[in-house]
Amino acid sequence: MAKTASYTCTACGASFTKWSGRCDGCGDWNTIIEEAPLASGPAAKSLGAKRGRGIQLTDLASEEVPPPRTHSGLSELDRVLGGGLVAGSAILVGGDPGIGKSTLLLQAAARFAMVGVKTLYVSGEEASAQVRMRAQRLGLGTAPVQLAAETNLRDILTTLDAERPGLVIIDSIQTMWADTVESAPGSVAQVRAAAHELTSFAKRRGISVVMVGHVTKEGQIAGPRVVEHMVDTVLYFEGERGHQFRILRSVKNRFGPADEIGVFEMTGDGLAEVTNPSALFLSERGTPAPGSVVFAGIEGTRPVLCEIQALVAPTPHSQPRRSVVGWDGGRLAMVLAVLEARCAIPFAGLDVYLNVAGGLKIGEPAADLAVAAALLSAREDVALPPETVIFGEISLSGALRPVGQAENRLKEAQKLGFTSAIVPAGGKMVGDGGLAVQRFGDLTALVGDIFGAG
Ligand code: TYD
Ligand code: MG
Repeated sequence: MAKTASYTCTACGASFTKWSGRCDGCGDWNTIIEEAPLASGPAAKSLGAKRGRGIQLTDLASEEVPPPRTHSGLSELDRVLGGGLVAGSAILVGGDPGIGKSTLLLQAAARFAMVGVKTLYVSGEEASAQVRMRAQRLGLGTAPVQLAAETNLRDILTTLDAERPGLVIIDSIQTMWADTVESAPGSVAQVRAAAHELTSFAKRRGISVVMVGHVTKEGQIAGPRVVEHMVDTVLYFEGERGHQFRILRSVKNRFGPADEIGVFEMTGDGLAEVTNPSALFLSERGTPAPGSVVFAGIEGTRPVLCEIQALVAPTPHSQPRRSVVGWDGGRLAMVLAVLEARCAIPFAGLDVYLNVAGGLKIGEPAADLAVAAALLSAREDVALPPETVIFGEISLSGALRPVGQAENRLKEAQKLGFTSAIVPAGGKMVGDGGLAVQRFGDLTALVGDIFGAG
């Protein structure tokens, strides 16, 4: 019997006849694993040769009851899950080592247990005594959570079958070990097999499963990306080492909006919810200084204000530096190019540093205008009018484009004591949220009006 390709890339799915360290298909390293060979040639049976069983069809128009959800009481977590935990769903929580994943999930486990969900916490990284000590430190020592320190998947599944919990937490998927696969725990094949076994078992039994996944240096969940496709929800727990706050971000959610965030603060007694993130992100802001502006952004479904800081200084090097923290470097290059080409404000010979204060990462193009204002303010050494927020997208022509949820952004600013706003003209006229709103059609007008430059 002829063998077909028996090596497969777990990232892109390309098949090969021999193993190699790097996939020719997608260029990823260490993603190729051996697969059981497929039968081909005369031995392979066409699917049509044997009749299958008829599948029950239903109308698209028929009534569907929404999946039952349980609220943990941690509202930041519930929101990121799309409004509570869906029974029988599979969730992957990724994050850097030491960021607080185990802390978050132990707190979540305790909350779910306290609202009546039978909860099992399986740690493959720490002994039960360690988990118990942490729970005591967090003031959750009496929560009705069942603990296990185990890495053998077969034993875990047998236990789940007997115990029938509503929720199981697996900390972490990289430590789990399936005896059906002959590679070491943490290897791509093991992670894939363990995640597959756990999710399919949990689905069959209606158990919700939360798997912790460590993240590689490149910021991806270590192991095959197919794990992300297997689960219903992928959450990333992010934060900067030097900062207290942590963001739980949903990057995929079959049961709710993706890109929703929950904000937490790491304290001595574990993670505390931050219900007003804007106040937190602006808390370290001093008196208005050149180079500092407040951007009114939207994260998920919520408005979040944050400070964008720029520093512009003559460069001692032949090649000026462009350094960005918390925003996209490509987008910064674009804003600089538009300022040079459309507003005749050159940045050649100048180092440019851009920082989103507090360690927040902004992905919205709506921050373009705030970034441009911070750059101009730093370059011209002119502070923006005090208590002013700013947002808007910049097009390559230098025109300003209106952005979504303008009214929500303005309302949030008003709530936090801001009195004026700089926004793009045009688009749907919305309420000004009680702020003095200045509208500009293009960047040149703003440069002239606010900074007297150009
Ligand atoms: P942990 O949850 O173990 O991280 P992960 O599972 O993502 O690797 O969190 C470890 C860090 O959190 C550690 O540096 C100490 C800090 N921490 C606190 O600051 N307060 C606390 O109450 C707890 C439990 C941890
Ligand atoms: Mg941990």
